[in-house]
Amino acid sequence: ITAKLSDGPLKGRRIVVTSGPTHEPIDPVRYIANRSSGAQGTALARALRDLGAEVVFITGPASVAPPEEVEVVPVETAQQMADAVFAALPADAGVFAAAVADWRVTSASDRKLKKSKDGLPVMEFAENPDILKTVAHLDKGRPGLVVGFAAETNDVVDNATAKRLRKGCDWIVANDVSPATGIMGGSENAVILISDAGAESWPRMDKTAVARQLAERIAAALTDKG
Ligand code: CTP
Ligand code: CA
Repeated sequence: ITAKLSDGPLKGRRIVVTSGPTHEPIDPVRYIANRSSGAQGTALARALRDLGAEVVFITGPASVAPPEEVEVVPVETAQQMADAVFAALPADAGVFAAAVADWRVTSASDRKLKKSKDGLPVMEFAENPDILKTVAHLDKGRPGLVVGFAAETNDVVDNATAKRLRKGCDWIVANDVSPATGIMGGSENAVILISDAGAESWPRMDKTAVARQLAERIAAALTDKG
């Protein structure tokens, strides 16, 4: 049983959540993607909704179904995700759990590349807009709480601490996604919450439990800000 939208500590709060991978087309039938399932972002959107938030859930092509009773905005590319985020602002909080592709293929073809005729493909890339960094640096209309994620394979705390400063966000939810952890694509997560207060390691638990605790922390932070 889920709480009514009107109940809970996040009642009246609008929260934008990005989730899932993005797909960057190479030609009409091929794309560049990543291993994000969208599970953690989806669980977080659900947990925020359950605390009463009005959630706008902007999702790339994920392998899990989006939550019920949230506004779902499906997108494919990083550029589309950026456009959807800016259209969804203003918001009380922005939670950027998506695994956004860093690059798009500028040499994408509008017809299917053929191996015989076209030979080996040579691709050119451009950097995608950094959604989190742009939102975190907004002068006007910055959400009161901006939360980024950092999936790292090494030096997790150092990388994520530097990333938080570079991005200008309030919190970074960091995790170790090196293959041995089985976290990418799995049902559990072990996160380190990085804020101006330092790094706080949470025990490994179900992604739904991580989501619930993060949602509670977000609710507490927004309540403190008034
Ligand atoms: N992010 C974003 N837009 C991008 C890239 C990343 O909003 N174009 C967000 C992600 O959703 C995540 C955070 O930024 O919340 C960190 O993403 P990450 O890929 O770890 O950061 P990068 O700056 O791209 O660094 P890296 O070179 O490690 O990939
Ligand atoms: Ca990246």
